[in-house]
Amino acid sequence: MTNTEPAGVRPYVTLTYAQSLDGSIAAQAGRPLALSGAESLRLTHRLRAQHDGILVGIGTVLIDDPQLTVRLVEGRNPRPVIVDSQLRCPPTARLFRAGTAHPLIATTTLAPESRAKALQQAGARILRLPHTADARVSLPHLLAALRAEGLTSLMVEGGAGIITSFIRSQLVDEIVLTIAPLLVGGMHAISGPLSADTTALPRLRNLTWQQLGSDLIVQGIPYWPTP
Ligand SMILES: NC(=O)c1ccc[n+]([C@@H]2O[C@H](COP(=O)([O-])OP(=O)(O)OC[C@H]3O[C@@H](n4cnc5c(N)ncnc54)[C@H](OP(=O)(O)O)[C@@H]3O)[C@@H](O)[C@H]2O)c1
Repeated sequence: MTNTEPAGVRPYVTLTYAQSLDGSIAAQAGRPLALSGAESLRLTHRLRAQHDGILVGIGTVLIDDPQLTVRLVEGRNPRPVIVDSQLRCPPTARLFRAGTAHPLIATTTLAPESRAKALQQAGARILRLPHTADARVSLPHLLAALRAEGLTSLMVEGGAGIITSFIRSQLVDEIVLTIAPLLVGGMHAISGPLSADTTALPRLRNLTWQQLGSDLIVQGIPYWPTP
């Protein structure tokens, strides 16, 4: 069921993640790696508190088992959103125990109903959405569904597959990147060239940067030049 793009409004999307100087977000696929220092982590939690929703892919849930809550600063928890086409999310995942209101699991019409039931019992709300040609969740439909759920802002935290898809789909309004001063030679945030035409590659405008602890925070508004 690959549908045409939905019309209408979507949440404001902030893409934020931490990488090493060489662009790695993990040492190797399937392993977590702590990159941010204490001050950048506080910034991440402050950003979480400023958004209605926080989104990660199922890969990150299975590897990092994140709580997706605000703990290092005062503030409200954003609503967790997991992108999970086959409903692989375990009902025992920590995000269900974090006390946030009904985590949203975005899946496709192809996912088995039995897994949906188990996740609903754990407190999830399942969003069944149209899928892409490679059977993954259609991101434009997901954003339209999140807006219909009342989310006006969304923080996208990763991992690599989700970062790449959001950038490729040009569905990012702002990027906040933590660059940690080390070299990893690991799994890169973005895989594959984003365009064969190098004049059409996404760039950042309104660029700001600051040092937090030993990390560099680079922030900007992405745009896609017309060749
Ligand atoms: N440094 C950081 O800031 C940071 C932040 C977060 C994560 N990470 C790291 O990133 C790694 C995980 O990255 P990952 O790429 O394996 O997992 P991911 O990006 O968290 O999730 C990717 C999965 O999401 C599902 N998906 C469904 N629809 C999709 C769509 N339209 N586009 C993309 N994915 C879609 C796919 O699985 P299905 O086909 O089964 O649905 C896909 O394999 C971990 O090592 C984690 O530690 C680092």
